[in-house]
Amino acid sequence: MAEMGLKAAIQFACTAEFWRMAVLWTMSLVVSYWHLFFTPKPQSYAPSSSFSSTRPNSPIITRPLCIITGATSGLGAAAAYALSREGFHVVLAGRSPHLLSKVISDIRRQNGCAHLKAFQVDLASFESILKFNGSLQQWLLDSNLHSSVQLLINNAGILATSCRLTAEGYDQVMATNYIGAFSLIKVLLPLLESSPIPSRIVNITSFTHRNGETVSENISCEVSSGVQVDKETVSGVRFSKLKRYPCAHVYEYSKLCLLLLSYELHRQFALVGNSVSVMYVYRLLCAVDPGAVKTNIMREVPSCLSQVAFLILKLVGLLQSPENGVCSVLDAALAPPEISGVYFFGGKGRTISSSVLSYNTELSQELWSTSCFIFQESMQASKRSSTKVVDS
Ligand SMILES: NC(=O)c1ccc[n+]([C@@H]2O[C@H](COP(=O)([O-])OP(=O)(O)OC[C@H]3O[C@@H](n4cnc5c(N)ncnc54)[C@H](OP(=O)(O)O)[C@@H]3O)[C@@H](O)[C@H]2O)c1
Ligand SMILES: *[C@@H]1O[C@H](CO)[C@@H](O)[C@H](O)[C@H]1NC(C)=O
Ligand SMILES: *[C@@H]1O[C@H](CO)[C@@H](O)[C@H](O)[C@H]1NC(C)=O
Ligand SMILES: *[C@@H]1O[C@H](CO)[C@@H](O)[C@H](O)[C@H]1NC(C)=O
Repeated sequence: MAEMGLKAAIQFACTAEFWRMAVLWTMSLVVSYWHLFFTPKPQSYAPSSSFSSTRPNSPIITRPLCIITGATSGLGAAAAYALSREGFHVVLAGRSPHLLSKVISDIRRQNGCAHLKAFQVDLASFESILKFNGSLQQWLLDSNLHSSVQLLINNAGILATSCRLTAEGYDQVMATNYIGAFSLIKVLLPLLESSPIPSRIVNITSFTHRNGETVSENISCEVSSGVQVDKETVSGVRFSKLKRYPCAHVYEYSKLCLLLLSYELHRQFALVGNSVSVMYVYRLLCAVDPGAVKTNIMREVPSCLSQVAFLILKLVGLLQSPENGVCSVLDAALAPPEISGVYFFGGKGRTISSSVLSYNTELSQELWSTSCFIFQESMQASKRSSTKVVDS
């Protein structure tokens, strides 16, 4: 058994992907810290209770509702605990019912008065996201809660070392880290919009997005800077056709896409926010980079290699526990209501700039239309299959 593990580790250590993670990811982490310490006057936002400003004549929300995806492990579980302490009603969305109930009882042990609710959702499946929408809305009705959501944290994410396709035929990593988050936002937008107090979306991205630009350098491209955001790439199908699955690239690319979309949505919402009718509806968008955190994210990487990586990061003082890493998530979740479209990193309310490419509006607009196209396709496919069921 140990021998097999060692063999797998040696094999993996001989791949270009491994060295990409070991060298480039460390570099991009250092760049993030560089920004943090050497940017003149970095912006920093102290947490505020943004959930107190209410539209006139609207119901009072005493306990804001927050949804956390991938809440069964690492940062998601830490965020669920921390936000329950901040007085949120926390909806934990995860794949495994067993892990969900374990996290819930762990939180209850530490915080006896936590308000928690679990839903089983697989972000890599569009059907599962639609089902979640239905059961969430039903639960809100049944428990007499206001039909709205105040905070959505897109945290679920994976790093896969081999290619797997989802039921829809997409790459598992792109489907989970990007398409799933996009679809969830699209589906839950009415609930976020109907919040009587400013609602907010927080995406967990990663310092590794800084390498995302070299993802498809081979492919010529109409958009500047050589990154493709067509359907074949965004759905990951292009990666699955390669001889060797570029696991590190795919992860970086999914995080870059998430960031591009954050800024795009921020721009779109900012436009809408200018009109008087929606003055009180801030839809706040923040991206969070937790830094390097010791979680299960490396679960597919041979364990002796990830142990060594964690050890080295720990020795140079860059490895955090989920309890510390979650600080920047809380910064974004609790920032003052007018803060939107910023990139939190390093805790203490601090923000830095993300890669130059992530601010490219041309690219983000193209990614936006590709993502909407993929979403529409999934919606139509799901309508077709539901009418089939009715027919038969
Ligand atoms: N750790 C770091 O150093 C680091 C750095 C930067 C960014 N991040 C980001 O932080 C986020 C959280 O990761 P983590 O470090 O806490 O890793 P983790 O411990 O592996 O947690 C990931 C969570 O996502 C869930 N998940 C995976 N695929 C899913 C799917 N299809 N549907 C629903 N849930 C799914 C997992 O649930 P299961 O238990 O069911 O698999 C798990 O709860 C990720 O987006 C990651 O990219 C992490
Ligand atoms: C989400 O659920 C609500 C209430 O059940 C429903 O009206 C709405 O159409 C659903 N959204 C999608 C995208 O299916
Ligand atoms: C670039 O892509 C073409 C076909 O799309 C392929 O033939 C070629 O080998 C690729 N080059 C590299 C360096 O990957
Ligand atoms: C979060 O990611 C989704 C795509 O997955 C994107 O539509 C949205 O703009 C992002 N928002 C933030 C705040 O990062």
